[in-house]
Amino acid sequence: MAEPLLNVGLLSCGNMARVLARALNSLERARIGMVCDLVEGAASSFGSELGVPWTTSIEEVLANPEISAVIVATPNFTHADVVVQAAQAGKHVFCEKPLALSVADCDRMIAATDSAGVALCVGQVLRYYPVFTQIKSLLDAGTIGQPFAVRISRLGGWGETQPWRQRRESCGGPLFEINAHELDYMRYLLGEPEVVYATGSQLVQHGVDFEDTAFVSVRFAGGAHGVLHSSIGAALGGYTGIIQGTEGSLAFTNWPGSIQWKRFDGNSGRLASDELTTPEPHARELTHLVEAALDGVAPVISGRDGRAVVAMAEAAVSSMASGQPVSVTPHR
Ligand SMILES: NC(=O)c1ccc[n+]([C@@H]2O[C@H](COP(=O)([O-])OP(=O)(O)OC[C@H]3O[C@@H](n4cnc5c(N)ncnc54)[C@H](O)[C@@H]3O)[C@@H](O)[C@H]2O)c1
Repeated sequence: MAEPLLNVGLLSCGNMARVLARALNSLERARIGMVCDLVEGAASSFGSELGVPWTTSIEEVLANPEISAVIVATPNFTHADVVVQAAQAGKHVFCEKPLALSVADCDRMIAATDSAGVALCVGQVLRYYPVFTQIKSLLDAGTIGQPFAVRISRLGGWGETQPWRQRRESCGGPLFEINAHELDYMRYLLGEPEVVYATGSQLVQHGVDFEDTAFVSVRFAGGAHGVLHSSIGAALGGYTGIIQGTEGSLAFTNWPGSIQWKRFDGNSGRLASDELTTPEPHARELTHLVEAALDGVAPVISGRDGRAVVAMAEAAVSSMASGQPVSVTPHR
């Protein structure tokens, strides 16, 4: 008997949706069966490229009984309503990061998918990029002992042109739109966030209505600390970090990838970019959707994980406004 195939509807034919569709089609047990974009030209061109039906109506995808799951890669401000609609139609969901722009919306999405009995997987794909996968393996192997402090610096410019990416109400600002990745990664390494203190302001990027530079400090349960330096206003970009553990420290750069560590006992190691390889990150994250939908496996990066990231970003924006530390809204 033929293996069951997950037939997936693609909700948006934008840049990220196309990456995800190609990654999904590379998997043995899944296929894009229909695509949708509000812009007819985007839907028709990508539908033709994949050789599948296309539409400009999400409702048409959700009403199709042959579609069992959807990929949601629409702009951030639409995620909550689209995911709730998909859940109510009984579709399993893979939703791009950030899961939503408020904890309240995340709770609506989790409630809708839970009550429909469908999976909610979230695209916190940074975990699957080579440097970050390798760091997690080194930490899990005890290379630097128990991690207790993480500092990540992600600096660059702002080449984004889509109108929705220029306004906080539609993209959330950089802490949601970009740093959802780094906030997720800190939590992945350090556990549950408790309190956030952040400062930030708009200094050099004048076409947006949000901060271009921020420092976010997070205290995690168990006493670990994380600091994020985020900027979309840096002429000299860079992506670096350092992790301190009870038995040593690890430093990394992403672009190009490199990792080095040194232990208090004097042992040390280094990995250069050509030693840092992993399976294709998007195919790997979409495998979780396939396993959740076809095999009933719990999503590896779940709605609750996506919610925790939104809770940290929301607390940081609130702290920047009030000048006070803000407690992170705990999981239900
Ligand atoms: N994981 C990552 O590293 C990563 C990278 C880039 C983008 N993203 C995320 O992917 C999402 C999309 O980003 P993008 O760069 O592809 O944006 P984009 O602007 O290129 O594409 C968005 C598309 O969505 C369509 N659209 C808008 N509302 C819609 C609706 N209700 N129904 C159907 N289509 C709709 C638009 O017409 C557009 O074609 C965002 O949430 C973004 O944060 C994630």
